[in-house]
Amino acid sequence: MKLLVTGASGVLGREVLLAARSVGMPVRAMSRRPPAGHTEGEEWVQGDLVTGQGIGEAVRGCDTIVHAASDPRQPDRVDVQGTRRLADEAGRAGVRHLVCVSIVGVDQVPYPYYKRKLAAEQIVSQANVPFSILRATQFHSFLEQLIASAARVPLVLPVPAGFVVQPVEVSEVAERLVRCIADGPRGRLTDFGGPDVLSFTEAARHWKKARNVAKRIVPIPVPGSMARAIRAGKGTAPLGDKGTISWPEWLMQTRDK
Ligand SMILES: NC(=O)c1ccc[n+]([C@@H]2O[C@H](COP(=O)([O-])OP(=O)(O)OC[C@H]3O[C@@H](n4cnc5c(N)ncnc54)[C@H](OP(=O)(O)O)[C@@H]3O)[C@@H](O)[C@H]2O)c1
Repeated sequence: MKLLVTGASGVLGREVLLAARSVGMPVRAMSRRPPAGHTEGEEWVQGDLVTGQGIGEAVRGCDTIVHAASDPRQPDRVDVQGTRRLADEAGRAGVRHLVCVSIVGVDQVPYPYYKRKLAAEQIVSQANVPFSILRATQFHSFLEQLIASAARVPLVLPVPAGFVVQPVEVSEVAERLVRCIADGPRGRLTDFGGPDVLSFTEAARHWKKARNVAKRIVPIPVPGSMARAIRAGKGTAPLGDKGTISWPEWLMQTRDK
């Protein structure tokens, strides 16, 4: 059984490659640039979901695809049209299971990128290939990026007031995806999130402590329907499946990296 991983050079894709290889699954990686640490012995196909270049070659001979490619800067071209292109090629090649990675709350949080992720889910669910869709919450590294970029503001650390998050360890999402390959196509899976739902302010407090940042946290009210949805927890899945590595634990583990 050969697995194709799209988005193999990305944060999640790299972890899916590791998780699949750790259980002895033959893997082919696809992205426009080779994944970091790629070696001659590992199978990699250069493929571009926007132009279609390399997609047919990437899909050929694979039973399963974990589709982790995405580009929030051009989601129409990559997440929507690119997913359609991939699903069409997968159907033609007789792929038996297309696993699509999505985000918790894509149908609840009115955010343009999420709208495209929802469209990608619909394309996968209507394609001529058996499928699974796994929605995950924000990866720890992504939450850290958000907080660290807010911390570039002089003097204070502004955070969106009332936002709630449920950060998850990306390697646990990858392991969940690899397990779902063994389970076979199951349609929409139970959402997957981190072990705890916490406020953005609390997350920033843990971050400050772990990263030795002394700035004062200042909650900033954010208007609009998207912010309202995030405050209402629509981007979290407290009743879903959960990883085990908490935000404070991850911050400690990555302290010197
Ligand atoms: N980040 C989060 O917190 C989070 C949370 C939940 C779900 N997700 C979902 O998880 C998936 C992976 O996210 P990520 O954070 O790992 O993304 P990422 O690090 O930005 O990686 C995106 C991947 O997509 C590839 N890609 C982009 N444009 C492409 C194109 N035109 N053709 C082919 N490949 C292309 C990139 O490779 P090249 O640039 O080398 O082509 C890269 O490997 C996405 O579907 C995302 O929506 C993310």
